[in-house]
Amino acid sequence: MDESLQAVSDDRPLVVIARVLLDSGLALLSERCEVRSGGLHATRAQILSLVRGAAAIVSDASVSVDAELLASCGPQLQIVANFAVGYDNVDLGACAGAGVLVTNTPGVLSSATAELAVALTLAAARGIFDAAADLRAGRWRHWDPSAYAGPQVAGSVLGVVGMGRIGTEYARMMKGLAVRQILYASRSAKPEVERELQASQVELAELMSAADIVSLHTPATAETHQLIDAQMLSLMKPSAILINTSRGSVLDELALAAALSEGRIWGAGLDVFEREPSVPDELLSAPRAVLLPHIGSATARARNEMAVLVARNVLSVLDGGEALTPVC
Ligand code: GLV
Repeated sequence: MDESLQAVSDDRPLVVIARVLLDSGLALLSERCEVRSGGLHATRAQILSLVRGAAAIVSDASVSVDAELLASCGPQLQIVANFAVGYDNVDLGACAGAGVLVTNTPGVLSSATAELAVALTLAAARGIFDAAADLRAGRWRHWDPSAYAGPQVAGSVLGVVGMGRIGTEYARMMKGLAVRQILYASRSAKPEVERELQASQVELAELMSAADIVSLHTPATAETHQLIDAQMLSLMKPSAILINTSRGSVLDELALAAALSEGRIWGAGLDVFEREPSVPDELLSAPRAVLLPHIGSATARARNEMAVLVARNVLSVLDGGEALTPVC
């Protein structure tokens, strides 16, 4: 537990940061609230004990906000402010039942996350990590015209699964990399995106079989759990790549590892995993898989803006006002 953030109890509302919040958000909260933080390595038991008496909790994707945690807080809890746009770690039903508002951080991380999806797309298509590792290991002996010859992004068909804020920003960036056609699968049609990017809405199965690059941007819900399963993966072209910067649970990771190992798809770029921080051995050993430790929103600008938005949501609700970015 981070002792430096433990304030002496006073009559200001108590805000508990389950793990950590950046200084940009902490400074705003500390002006008007007592703030306690569990620290990066807080265990579940420490978090459960720390939240007692909290009026607000700041959580992140690694903190499960469920009925047990809400009960540990007590009835004075007003808001759970999640430091993430995704909120699959929060039991919305339990929060609604306890009369607790839930907020997230949409918008401010869209460019950062879309940029990382572009970086993964280029890295997976062009074998950048394998090539760089070969050079460092002294395996670069001759210039070989067939080595690392993967798919080309320019001129390819892009498939975006989930055309929300991040999916749209990614498609916009990829248009700048000269993809030939943009297909998308989404719950609702996006006429503005269709006009701006000449994108076409198709069924998921059609997207999986037509696209050279498939990028996942759908939230993790009961409906999207393992949406990309062995059957969907079997529709992909052997030359295609799969990118995931959304949540690990939307993909059957073992089916993907098998598809890579058996050469049924070309490559993959993953920033998220179903049981973070654990990554299945099958994926670690799969060929042409670029794997990153959930850094989609990790630009200084996005992370600071997320921290400020978290703090503004908390302060607004504790002041009796509206949440700025309520989840529902
Ligand atoms: C990060 O994964 C987020 O949902 O913001």
